[in-house]
Amino acid sequence: MKRKLLYGCMHLGGSWDESPISDEQQAMANDILDFLIGDCTIRDFDHADIYCKGKSEKIFGNYFKQNGLKREDYFIQSKCGIQLGAGALGSSHFCFDKKHIIDQVNQSIENLQCKYLDALLLHRPDPLWHPEEVAETFEYLKSQKLVHKFGVSNFSSSKLAYLKHYFPDIFANQVQFSLGHSHIIHEEVVFNTNHEMATDTGFMTYHNLNNIEIQAWGPLDQGKHLSDKVVNVALKNKLIELSKKYEVAAEAILIAWILKVPGQIVPILGSLQKDRMSKLLLAFEVDLSRQDWYDLWILCNEQKLP
Ligand SMILES: NC(=O)c1ccc[n+]([C@@H]2O[C@H](COP(=O)([O-])OP(=O)(O)OC[C@H]3O[C@@H](n4cnc5c(N)ncnc54)[C@H](OP(=O)(O)O)[C@@H]3O)[C@@H](O)[C@H]2O)c1
Repeated sequence: MKRKLLYGCMHLGGSWDESPISDEQQAMANDILDFLIGDCTIRDFDHADIYCKGKSEKIFGNYFKQNGLKREDYFIQSKCGIQLGAGALGSSHFCFDKKHIIDQVNQSIENLQCKYLDALLLHRPDPLWHPEEVAETFEYLKSQKLVHKFGVSNFSSSKLAYLKHYFPDIFANQVQFSLGHSHIIHEEVVFNTNHEMATDTGFMTYHNLNNIEIQAWGPLDQGKHLSDKVVNVALKNKLIELSKKYEVAAEAILIAWILKVPGQIVPILGSLQKDRMSKLLLAFEVDLSRQDWYDLWILCNEQKLP
């Protein structure tokens, strides 16, 4: 299977606080980036302005500069639109105003020391947005050669269609998608039943018909199916059984499960451990049988399909 993935840099910055980047944090990031770029030949990276309050981008930028990497050999994507902790109760809120987006793009480019972004995604829907203003902003960023491609994240298909009306060239939507978070396929299977997921947004159909890449965040469900304190023992046992059958780690089975779903699905792998990353990359060599794919899904949902 052709390998298409992003490395997610959310955890790269060490901590989500205002503390400066320590030499130790930079050294740890350098070590994993050396491995990802050198040994794993990963060239595609996912960032956001908010990750570790900007430190993930900065650490990556420092690495990129120190190693004199060639900009055109890499795909560097970032996201903006979340204002971290800016709301009541310490909640984040969202802002798609033209000035905010342009300021954040300039900040990300400075942090990443990378001259331009290959792609910019709007991180989470802002109900106060004006899609025509966003389209104008994207046109401006493109004309200034600050951003090459545009996408969204955590958007419903209807909201994405609304934006595409003003700016047709949207290439990707980054959403949570994993064995343990499969709403985007579940809704189309339980449609018109009494199931709680029985809505009709047609997410998968819309994205596949419009050739929009689905970037899957949280692909390992943060490790919850395989930890020592696992709740769903039947699922864990199945994952272990299949890891023996397909001769890969159980984590790779979770990624293979995602890759089996038709469409342009791109998993975002975000482990800081070299050993885990090596194991995950073997997922691209696994083609789960229909029986195994469904068994995992049913066991994870702990519920029969209709
Ligand atoms: N657009 C959005 O709203 C959004 C939201 C969240 C994330 N993202 C993107 O998606 C990327 C991946 O997200 P994610 O980190 O949530 O993905 P994930 O693959 O579900 O979780 C990875 C995390 O789980 C840990 N983990 C995995 N398997 C484990 C196991 N068996 N035992 C213990 N720990 C385990 C990893 O720790 P180790 O490092 O120790 O391996 C790592 O911290 C991020 O880096 C970011 O780029 C986007």
